[in-house]
Amino acid sequence: MRFIPELDRIVPYEPGAPLELVMRRFGLAEVVKLASNEFPLPPFDEVKAAVIAALDDLNRYPDGHATDLRAALAEHYGRAPAEVTVGNGSCELIMLLGDALLESGDEVVLGDPSFVVYNDICVRHGAVAVAVPLRDFTHDLEAMAAAVTARTKIVFVCNPNNPTGTYVSAAAIERFVDQVPEDVLIVLDEAYNEFVTASDSQATLPLEARHENVCILRTFSKIYGLCGLRVGYGLCAAAVRTAIDKVRQPFNVNRLAQVAAFEALRHQDQVEQRRRQNAAVRDYMVERLAALGRATVPSEANFMLVDTRDLCKPQDKVCAALMSMGAIVRDGNALGCPGWARVSVGTKEETDFFLAKLGSLEPTSLDENEGRPS
Ligand SMILES: Cc1ncc(COP(=O)(O)O)c(C=O)c1O
Repeated sequence: MRFIPELDRIVPYEPGAPLELVMRRFGLAEVVKLASNEFPLPPFDEVKAAVIAALDDLNRYPDGHATDLRAALAEHYGRAPAEVTVGNGSCELIMLLGDALLESGDEVVLGDPSFVVYNDICVRHGAVAVAVPLRDFTHDLEAMAAAVTARTKIVFVCNPNNPTGTYVSAAAIERFVDQVPEDVLIVLDEAYNEFVTASDSQATLPLEARHENVCILRTFSKIYGLCGLRVGYGLCAAAVRTAIDKVRQPFNVNRLAQVAAFEALRHQDQVEQRRRQNAAVRDYMVERLAALGRATVPSEANFMLVDTRDLCKPQDKVCAALMSMGAIVRDGNALGCPGWARVSVGTKEETDFFLAKLGSLEPTSLDENEGRPS
């Protein structure tokens, strides 16, 4: 078969290992998954009830315009429904923006490292990913603004950044937006926004409202605990939403996902509770890791980078060793952060489990062939 040549340069996304698989493979009774930045608790009870109530309608296609969900999001954010787009996860929206904007030879400015899908859409469309190194694990917005050329179509600012968890202030983003030409789409990927405890966490919203070329992406996958259903959304100019409507499939957000997201949005008190829970466990994790002599990168998200550079030789076996003991975390070597592990914030119990396993690893304790502690 004659596949498109771009496929030769695309490596399929490798998600964190599934829990059940790790249990079976290592014969473990207890496994904790802190590898995919999921929220450790199930969806809200009201959401579960709404999804169950909608099951009988599954013989019908969903609303292709997601009218109720977009109206609810528009009301929540003080926008018109025309300025709200929804996708099968915010990941789909990133891909659709690529479909709508990118041609061969175009440039996309992004942080390095940042969310891998930004790079993937460049490869897919023959566009050039202009990767601007982070400074102190944080987006270097000055350098990113300087990297914009006449060929730049999109700039991605992931805030907080995945995989580093670092946060740039809304004031810094405002200065950045002022420096970027108005015909360049600035995507503020705020997938982890609800975990941010900085006081300016919502201050990019008025910025988006003022600038046609700014688009904010958020998701129900993280704090709402709905990544299994897949709903993300974008706040953007109506022209951007129309462009996405032209390239998306007709029923991109399924019926249960629409129902769940609509209900979830109504429970901001529980979102606030979860934000506080995440921040408390995040602080606890930093403190306990420091006590173990482990550095972390300051995070505003529900994950953080943990320094394991001194730990094991070869270094890329650290996460494999942790997995064999039931603690699944993400290997920073695969994410552009060699020697670091990206660890999600779980419950306090899950965190203690991970800390115990990490604490048991010694620099010399790995069998080099297996990546298992000897
Ligand atoms: C920075 C960032 N953006 C977007 C996404 C996509 O999330 P979803 O497609 O589940 O909404 C993720 C997922 O982990 C992410 O880390």
